[in-house]
Amino acid sequence: MPAVPDPSDGIPEPILRKLLQIGLLISSKLGLRELIEAVIEVAGQAVPADRISLWLVDDNAHELYTFVGEGLDQEIRIPIGGQGIVNECVVARREINVPCAYEHASFDKSWDTENGYTTYSVLCVPISRGNRVVACLQFINRKRGKSRRRIYFPAEERQMFVGRFTSSDARIARTIADYIGVAVEKSLLVGRLKSQSWSAIKMLADVTDGRDPTTGDHTKLVTAIAVAIAREMGLSQHMIERVMLAAILHDVGKISIPDRVLRKKGPLNKREWSMMRRHPTETRNRLARLEFARGFEDILFAAGAHHEKMDGSGYPDGLKGDEIPIEARIIAPADVYQALTQERPYKPAKPSAQAYGICCEMEGTHLYPPAVAALGAVLDRCGGDPTTLVELINW
Ligand code: C2E
Ligand code: SIN
Ligand code: SIN
Ligand code: FE
Repeated sequence: MPAVPDPSDGIPEPILRKLLQIGLLISSKLGLRELIEAVIEVAGQAVPADRISLWLVDDNAHELYTFVGEGLDQEIRIPIGGQGIVNECVVARREINVPCAYEHASFDKSWDTENGYTTYSVLCVPISRGNRVVACLQFINRKRGKSRRRIYFPAEERQMFVGRFTSSDARIARTIADYIGVAVEKSLLVGRLKSQSWSAIKMLADVTDGRDPTTGDHTKLVTAIAVAIAREMGLSQHMIERVMLAAILHDVGKISIPDRVLRKKGPLNKREWSMMRRHPTETRNRLARLEFARGFEDILFAAGAHHEKMDGSGYPDGLKGDEIPIEARIIAPADVYQALTQERPYKPAKPSAQAYGICCEMEGTHLYPPAVAALGAVLDRCGGDPTTLVELINW
């Protein structure tokens, strides 16, 4: 964590307190977007400016984009290396503090022209991690301050007295930039770890699906539908992730079922059924040997309960109603609907509407009514073709 400047640096006490507040925000558990929003709000109290934006470097697209731009309601993207003060700041890794943007060589007037805005003073601070620039913190039009000039913004029908950014402003901005650098790095790291574990888990599911060529993308589609149902029901982001994880893993227990049973072209006999009915327990046992992130430790119970039924007649435990984990109550209709609409060696595929009709008949006895209702809304929206939902889960 970067140090808060010493008061002897000449930074006034109230501003130091603002910086401390930012330090505390960075160490809190907020997601990056909320964090940056909060930091920018406090930054505006420490260095009053008409607009404050954080520009992030997108290495893949070779672009800079506004992560959160106060006063800007949509993301702006510009190619790295093109015109603009932000570009100069990032490419030359240089802090830029100009009292009059129009007299600065790299300034790009087009944004002003398009938006009926007048950029006057600009302060841009590069944010580096290691030896590369990851972002740029930009302040436009110092409110109040020295050598004020009256500026009129035609598109917004307002005027403002604009000053220039001082060296003390710049020092405060550098400290804020250091803090943001820590937050950005932390988030990039966590993001990478998270997407790594998700892709490993998805691969495991692809392997399960691959065992049985006739079930094709069963798990992928069940997951997409279940996540859509969870969203439709308005569950929290964390619960949606739990539904997603449990859905991806729900059938991994099928790995233990012999091919001759799994791929059988007709109805199962009694012995084969008893093997088949063990798969949720196998799922649970396999997951019990894995280590999950905080908030996901008990996911095995949700994944292992996808064949439980509301009236208690399901397996493996005969759980009833809300004894069944909510994630499993959401996955069940997705599973049944997907199984019905997919061709199997022992039965043809049913059209979407008919499959949904069967789910409705199972409501209450087998399936959880709110999840069935949400499934209906989801199917309406995707025109009965859940393959369009797969992009929702990045698979
Ligand atoms: P699955 O094919 O992925 O089906 C998942 C669930 O969807 C089934 O769980 C059942 O609740 C529902 N479902 C599937 N087809 C129908 C149907 O035609 N009508 C109705 N009302 N519901 C349906 P269930 O029954 O516990 O089966 C678990 C797994 O056992 C199935 O997963 C499938 O892999 C296997 N299986 C089930 N029946 C047969 C069969 O007749 N032959 C073979 N070879 N396998 C079967
Ligand atoms: C902008 O910030 O919208 C462009 C100003 C510049 O960086 O030249
Ligand atoms: C995640 O990738 O964050 C969820 C999976 C897990 O908890 O391991
Ligand atoms: Fe299953």
